[in-house]
Amino acid sequence: MNIRKKASDLMAWIDYRLPVTKAYKTHMSEYYAPKNLNAWYFFGVLAMLVFANQLLSGIWLTMFYTPTVEEAFDSIEYIMRDVESGWIIRYMHEVGASFFFIVVYLHIYRGFLYGSYKKPRELVWVIGMFIYFLMMAEGFFGYVLPFGNMSYWGAKVILSLIGAIPVFGPDLQIWVQGDFMISGVTLSRFFAFHVALVPLIIILGVYLHLIALHQVGSNNPDGIDIKAVKDEQGIPKDGIPFHPYYTVHDLIPVVIFLMLFFAAVFFFPGGGGFFIEAPNYVPANNLSTPDHIAPVWYYTPFYAMLRAVTVDFLYLDAKFWGLIVMGGAILIVFFLPWLDRSPVNSMRYKGRISKAFLMIWTISFLCLGVLGVKPADWAPSWVSPVLTIIYFSYFFLMPFYTRWESCKTVPERIGADR
Ligand code: HEM
Repeated sequence: MNIRKKASDLMAWIDYRLPVTKAYKTHMSEYYAPKNLNAWYFFGVLAMLVFANQLLSGIWLTMFYTPTVEEAFDSIEYIMRDVESGWIIRYMHEVGASFFFIVVYLHIYRGFLYGSYKKPRELVWVIGMFIYFLMMAEGFFGYVLPFGNMSYWGAKVILSLIGAIPVFGPDLQIWVQGDFMISGVTLSRFFAFHVALVPLIIILGVYLHLIALHQVGSNNPDGIDIKAVKDEQGIPKDGIPFHPYYTVHDLIPVVIFLMLFFAAVFFFPGGGGFFIEAPNYVPANNLSTPDHIAPVWYYTPFYAMLRAVTVDFLYLDAKFWGLIVMGGAILIVFFLPWLDRSPVNSMRYKGRISKAFLMIWTISFLCLGVLGVKPADWAPSWVSPVLTIIYFSYFFLMPFYTRWESCKTVPERIGADR
């Protein structure tokens, strides 16, 4: 019996018990992706790459990190100085966190541009937003672990938001902290959430995200439904097999990404104070507040919205309303598939109002990001409330302007209008 025959017998044996070949065909060689996917479509695969990096480097760090108040900070120093290659593993994890958010923000923005959230991809979007929310939680828990001074005070600010909830907030805060103040109990539960609970749910989320996507098929920059025009064998005429076309195509962004990523790991690991903030190079001290407490850059647009609310209202504290605004800013993005009533998917065919709104929204989101990094008195006090109103108007007015504006006609086939 030759080797080829043996291999195919083995595969048949496995396939009878576990549908490996069927899964390979469904998700790779017979998954027909639109032929016009552009660079915006690289970020999904890059998100998977950085996520894998976070999981692997994180497992390594766990071998040497100690989640106690006395030893957490020193165990990170030990990893950096004494553990063989410890510094590179730690920097891969820490730079990886920021790169994960860069990649996922661009991945989400692609959805805004091409209407990837619209029917039939609502669940792909909603699951994606759950992943994003979990990533935010994961980043927060991870930031507390080195127990530097910003870890401590950042956690204090965020946990105090729970305390701002009326009636049961203060008790809830103590329950979440596990103590009357941030202590070793808090640190060890944040460690459990960061290394086990949240990553496990994110893995499940990514799996469901991809299954849901492959059920309905990928959107594309023109927003054309490629399944509408099929050949005699039922294959979309404008589709190409994901493998080998996109698997090979995706190698280019992977190589470019790795070059940029390792350039940051080797030459710019602190990200100029954006990836690791200066106060986190000193151990936590509950008697010494950093001059200016700010979260890491990827939370700052939402932090700016939290700080934008400064007036008490209906007998409730401004801090509570800030929390509502901040939570609402994330929650509203979940509903995008139902807010956008446009007959077309892609910005390429939408009207002028949608284009203008997206541009203004993008600028205000970026400005909020800058404001969140700066001290509260850096800009006049009206700026962040105005930007927050623009942020929400984009979503609240969407059902109206997407229905009223006139759009261009979408061609039936990709490239038919060129
Ligand atoms: C760990 C995080 C994530 C991973 C690993 C991931 C992975 C992927 C991959 C591999 C694809 C297919 C390739 C592509 O279209 O780029 C995809 C598509 C998609 N993802 Fe994600 N994703 C993540 C987070 C998110 C988030 C936070 C959202 C937004 C809420 C999102 C929304 C979408 C949408 C709408 C599509 C379909 C795009 C289209 O067909 O045009 N994803 N994702």
